[in-house]
Amino acid sequence: MKEIKLLALGDVVRTVSCSYISRNLWKFRREHGIDIVVANGENASENGGIDRYSMDTLLSYGVDVITTGNHVFKNNEAKALLDENKYIIRPANYPDALPGYGYTLFEAAGKTFLIINVMGVVLMEPLADPFTAVEKILERNRGKYDISVLDVHAEATSEKRAMGLFFDGKIDIIFGTHTHVQTADEQVLPRGTGYITDIGMCGPDNSVLGIDTKCIVEKLRMHTPVKFTVSGTKITAHGAVFTLDGATGKVKKAERITF
Ligand SMILES: [Fe+2]
Repeated sequence: MKEIKLLALGDVVRTVSCSYISRNLWKFRREHGIDIVVANGENASENGGIDRYSMDTLLSYGVDVITTGNHVFKNNEAKALLDENKYIIRPANYPDALPGYGYTLFEAAGKTFLIINVMGVVLMEPLADPFTAVEKILERNRGKYDISVLDVHAEATSEKRAMGLFFDGKIDIIFGTHTHVQTADEQVLPRGTGYITDIGMCGPDNSVLGIDTKCIVEKLRMHTPVKFTVSGTKITAHGAVFTLDGATGKVKKAERITF
């Protein structure tokens, strides 16, 4: 039986990176036989957050499900988008009163994927416990999916690894986002979960986490508010490909990728 391949793409930084994805993602999908693409889009609009233009661009050019994080509500359009399109989700541990859902189901390669998004709480907003939020979603969806996927949007590598190992064997694929720098610890964990602490970003190479270096240096040296801008012509998409056995659904391989 054919292998199943999931591509996870790191935070897409601003419209310049959405354009890059729109020009290059289908080629990567075709060449690598990718069945499903999950991308973090919390910074995809021009001033951060996500808007209709960036959501439409990503979903039209090869992204199947958009996950988000702490910047999701930065753009005013996000609340409506989260309500109307089930293929863009927000961290599950935000208050229930907010629009949107922390998970979605997506059909690909003859399988049902459960995609979950949570946010870490170490050095971030004091949201509800992400471990409990994930456990509740797994319980609520028991029997409704074949393959489970978790985007842990978190600052601390320790929190991401702790979630990876805690849910090892209970979730098929776990990857981290938010820190925008790809880590070199992609692996299949002891109980079978495909894991990487951070998949990196899709953004300008010559930048600080996607943002123009001048802005960040000024902020770090002067400690005053600075409007973040994006510049740079060379964009790289960072992410990871997880390969699963088509018959058993078990993860065979986790690989870092760039394009
Ligand atoms: Fe973030």
